[in-house]
Amino acid sequence: RTPVNLAVIGGDGIGPEVVAEGLKVLDAITGPGTFATTRYDLGAARWQRTGEVLPDSVLGELAQADAILLGAVGAAPGATDVPSGLLERGLLLKLRFAFDHYVNLRPSRLYPGVPTPLAGDVLDRGEIDFLVVREGTEGLYCGNGGTVRTGTPHEIATEVSVNTAFGVERVVRDAFERATRRRNKITLLHKHNVLVNAGGLWRRLFESVAAEYPGVTTDYLHIDAAMIFLVTDPQRFDVIVTDNLFGDIVTDLAAAVTGGIGLAASGNINPDRTFPSMFEPVHGSAPDIAGQGIADPTATILSVGLLLEHLGFAEEAARVEKAAVADIAARRGQPRRSTSAVGDAIAAAV
Ligand code: NAD
Ligand code: IPM
Ligand code: MN
Repeated sequence: RTPVNLAVIGGDGIGPEVVAEGLKVLDAITGPGTFATTRYDLGAARWQRTGEVLPDSVLGELAQADAILLGAVGAAPGATDVPSGLLERGLLLKLRFAFDHYVNLRPSRLYPGVPTPLAGDVLDRGEIDFLVVREGTEGLYCGNGGTVRTGTPHEIATEVSVNTAFGVERVVRDAFERATRRRNKITLLHKHNVLVNAGGLWRRLFESVAAEYPGVTTDYLHIDAAMIFLVTDPQRFDVIVTDNLFGDIVTDLAAAVTGGIGLAASGNINPDRTFPSMFEPVHGSAPDIAGQGIADPTATILSVGLLLEHLGFAEEAARVEKAAVADIAARRGQPRRSTSAVGDAIAAAV
């Protein structure tokens, strides 16, 4: 069999540290020769050295990969040496848009024994296991806006959210399909009481797709109220579908209540398989802990699990998840291990 062609972008900060552990686990589970990995040196350092963020030639090579594993890109939120958004827009979002990653999959499960800020009576209600299907190619992320009278007291800055019927319907449909493979419940999060145009479109298309899935129970919450229920009654959620920015925000909170950002995995999926899908932890480059060898690589390892699943290695994917979950459960009361110690342990277990 020809090897699976995996493109690897470590990126910035803790990105390369956690990706190294993801690859360790991948190697351990698939053995030599199954995957051929190609590393791409992209991120802040390359930009500072060459002025390049994502050359077209590299974009063209990445398009030929079977899948992409990404760590994280971006400088510290307060940094002034790298313009804010340069790498986020020019690299990460460019890949999501160019490769039509319209399904941004972000599962959240509270694994046994994992510390959570949730109150005991909330936990008594049962398992927390939901999947956010975040739209990945539209909304406020399109870069549709600008400033006029820039730098004056009369400056006006606009960011216009783009929501197409085509783009909304395809992600809603994908989310309904996923609900049928889970607990048959789906919740739309939006804010149609204020965002009447975009919210109205989402609501109408959600309802028309719902008519094709009579076995799926539907629900709707305004995004602000959803933040309450995520903390007071997270068991009410199975599949959540929402737009790009709401999905970004809700998945950081989802991570925080299910064991922390160090555990949250994601897949940027191109369901049509016209382009490679891209797998990455939900977290960023964590400049505050970069270079110390203490970042939790579990989110990246679980993202490798999602990658394996996507590529048809279902049995291997299940083993990665099982080993990661066992490792997470065994952490209780133990001293914090280094990034590589966690990777070693999970790699040994798979
Ligand atoms: P962040 O996710 O990088 O960090 C938030 C907090 O979580 C920090 O305290 C950090 O130390 C902690 N944290 C994150 N990952 C962790 C891990 N694996 N183990 C232990 N702790 C972890 O978010 P931020 O500080 O808002 O962003 C930093 C940079 O990353 C910014 O430039 C931002 O644009 C970028 N970013 C990139 C991605 C991505 O590439 N997918 C995602 C989010 C943020
Ligand atoms: C994420 C990140 C990105 C996003 C940024 C860095 C562009 O926060 O993957 O969650 O907003 O999607
Ligand atoms: Mn985010």
